[in-house]
Amino acid sequence: MKRILLPLVVTILGVSCAGDDGIPVYRQSGRSVDERVEDLLRRMTLEEKILQLNQYIVGLNTNVNNIGREIEEVPAGIGSVIYFSDNVALRNELQRKAVEETRLGIPVLFGFDVIHGFRTIYPIPLAQGCSWNPSLVETLCRTAAREARLSGTDWTFSPMIDVSRDARWGRVAECYGEDPYCNAVMGVASVRGYQGEDLYLTERIAACAKHYVGYGLSQGGRDYTSTDVSMQSLWDTYLPPYKACVEAGVETVMSAFNDINGVPATANAALLTDILKRRWGHAGFVVSDWNAVEQLVAQGYARDRKEAALRAFTAGVEMDMKDDCYRAYFPELLDEGKITQRQIDEAVSRILRLKFRLGLFERPYTDSLPEAERVLAPEALQAAEQLAGESMVLLKNDGVLPLSGVDDIAVIGPMARDRFHLLGSWRCHGRAEDAQTLYEGLEQEFGSGVSLHYAPGCDFDGSDRSGFARARQLAARCDVVILCLGERAEWSGENASRSTIALPEIQQELVEALSTCGKPLVVVLSNGRPLDLHRMEPLASAMLEIWQPGLRGGSAMAGILSGRVNPSGRLCMTFPRSTGQIPIFYNSRSSARPDQGHYQDISNTPLYEFGYGLSYSKFVYGELSADTDRISAHEPFTVRVDVTNESDVDGYETVHWYVTDPCCSITRPVKELRYFEKRLIPAGATETFTFRVVPERDLAYVDSEGNPLLEAGEFRIGVKDRSLTLNLE
Ligand code: GLC
Repeated sequence: MKRILLPLVVTILGVSCAGDDGIPVYRQSGRSVDERVEDLLRRMTLEEKILQLNQYIVGLNTNVNNIGREIEEVPAGIGSVIYFSDNVALRNELQRKAVEETRLGIPVLFGFDVIHGFRTIYPIPLAQGCSWNPSLVETLCRTAAREARLSGTDWTFSPMIDVSRDARWGRVAECYGEDPYCNAVMGVASVRGYQGEDLYLTERIAACAKHYVGYGLSQGGRDYTSTDVSMQSLWDTYLPPYKACVEAGVETVMSAFNDINGVPATANAALLTDILKRRWGHAGFVVSDWNAVEQLVAQGYARDRKEAALRAFTAGVEMDMKDDCYRAYFPELLDEGKITQRQIDEAVSRILRLKFRLGLFERPYTDSLPEAERVLAPEALQAAEQLAGESMVLLKNDGVLPLSGVDDIAVIGPMARDRFHLLGSWRCHGRAEDAQTLYEGLEQEFGSGVSLHYAPGCDFDGSDRSGFARARQLAARCDVVILCLGERAEWSGENASRSTIALPEIQQELVEALSTCGKPLVVVLSNGRPLDLHRMEPLASAMLEIWQPGLRGGSAMAGILSGRVNPSGRLCMTFPRSTGQIPIFYNSRSSARPDQGHYQDISNTPLYEFGYGLSYSKFVYGELSADTDRISAHEPFTVRVDVTNESDVDGYETVHWYVTDPCCSITRPVKELRYFEKRLIPAGATETFTFRVVPERDLAYVDSEGNPLLEAGEFRIGVKDRSLTLNLE
């Protein structure tokens, strides 16, 4: 009787626990995700639910900044792990325990920091921002997703879209610079590359927009500190990239370490729930940053780990990364009525939904493929080289580049034969041995016709000048000097802030020592932040910023020096004249006295401004024109400009379209990037670039409550050094 009754009763209640063939609904791939989530949730015990809200780690923790108690025994039913290994067999064994040795067989979600490549490492995000090529960024993220998924990683903690204006902060390397629009466009391109249109059983992975929010404002450029930011700035500068990524369907968001105006990001209900979930409708889940829940105690926002768990969870953090607070205290918090079963169910649903969408229930295991079928595909390396070349920025060229008529090249400096530091921070499973050195790139590029002569010159830092003499001798014997300088990979990235953005003295002195050899000096810079180059700038014939370009930076750099590649990178972050100028960025508000208030010792202007970058072509901009001279809030209109390539070298130009609202009830930046387009302009040709302006999108501002603001009056739309004035009625 009982057996017959149960299905009957359950059917009357309108909920079917099992299909006709007895298979539970949550195991039926043909059912909707919501049906499957609802069915599975109903079957779960409290302990099983709480486990889903926790993420532990497996494998050797390669992030030296994240210290703390390791969880020895990872329970089979854990919701997620940060998987530091690329060992598919180990991953499948962990997954087997979850799927075959637990009551409901809920698969584990494997996450990792796939930031600029999985094994095929391409340029750091700050460099990607300088490429102004979102479709290429999307391609590389798709490559990274394929390598990751085929290697057992389902979820990446990327893109990092923290707008930052302080180059002392090591994590500027991970974002797309100082501009909200650039971070939004590149963030969306990354989300699309990782996630594609369908996560289900494809070579795609879930993305994670981080670190929500305002982390780039860390006080003094020091990591993990508090941030003081007005709601106006949050809305007009730091939130827009996240809104764009949520609208693009990013599956997860990571809460930041920083305290925001006295409420840490990881316990900030206004941001995590009111804005992210209620206002923007984010249907995925929030994962805390590493130990960020427990760190609420250190931040003075929770008395103990239990209160930290309560504050983070009720604010809107669904998954607790690493510190075990949720698992340890949720049963008590539930018993005490401080959290509810309903809140737990809602959080668990969001996590289960992603697991169903990824197809983990149908295919929990990763096929074991030979390495050659998983990573380092030739087309991936080619794309990595192309993005490296498009992200490099030619800062100075007195005509020495592209090199020609040289027989002997001196290749000097600590970066010349380095493989490790070229990969930068957050190198995932990248291996130095896969990287091509700058020297090798030059060898390959200039071939047997040119002789290369190498000397280290000096180390990255220290005070050993014993290599100077040899370097000078070499320089004296050669036609040109290529001096490869820069930063160690660990000088940027997490917990890698520096009090000065100048290169170490020893490198500056090597430039000075070589500048008196009477030979052209081409300085190649590999670094993870804007640098103070004011000392070496007058001494160099040319300076090429190659950033940390990944595995194929050598070829890309050599291609630019030979002229095979016409440099097209433009800065997405300002280069100050000195550390003392920080913060300095293009989209600042106007001064009360624009012609005064200057430093007494140096200019107020940066050394290289946002959008700057030289080409071998000569691009000449025509006058702007619009298809109307009267604009209204609801009428899109088009502005256009002709750009002529007055050189004999085909080249890519990026036209940056800026908007200025000279008078508004909330003061606005002197100009705001609102659109850009990169296009090839053949030698001698003229291309017409257009900006289809949708006033409510492109002219509007936002107020301190996040409401759009578009007021009648004058607007200027400009490119380069010219603008068009239009009157919004
Ligand atoms: C780190 C970083 C975060 C990263 C996480 C997992 O502390 O802040 O960006 O995704 O831990 O490694």
